[in-house]
Amino acid sequence: NNLDTLYRQVIMDHYKNPRNRGSLDDESLTIDMNNPTCGDRIQIHLQIEDGKVEDAKFEGEGCSISLSSASMMTQAIKGQPVEDALKMSKLFSDMMLGEEIDPEGLELGDIEALQGVAKFPARIKCATLAWKAMEKGVNHEQ
Ligand code: FES
Ligand code: FES
Repeated sequence: NNLDTLYRQVIMDHYKNPRNRGSLDDESLTIDMNNPTCGDRIQIHLQIEDGKVEDAKFEGEGCSISLSSASMMTQAIKGQPVEDALKMSKLFSDMMLGEEIDPEGLELGDIEALQGVAKFPARIKCATLAWKAMEKGVNHEQ
């Protein structure tokens, strides 16, 4: 349907024009994580100050789902309190379980475009890779 087409376009746009691709300075936190099912790996860079994600970037190689998800994730959490970034991560994993999500005022940006991935269990690990890496980094900081 039209919504699926729109979502596919959003995913391809993030894949072709990634937001926040690159690295941050040495002071930032870097989390390197691989998807064991395919061996692809990505690095998430986070600059966290006073409980807020001041900046977020990503590098690495992977499929269109993993890279577009990393792009959407960095876009969604940038400038947000760490607490909200973790809430978004929880919402995203609920979405990957095929659940309807209620953003409760959080600005989720484009991440809802990935909800169709929930129908393909093999790709869920691709979609959640960047979020898992972000969570790992944030939890380490707290
Ligand atoms: Fe990512 Fe096949 S390209 S699961
Ligand atoms: Fe490797 Fe999707 S196939 S991250």
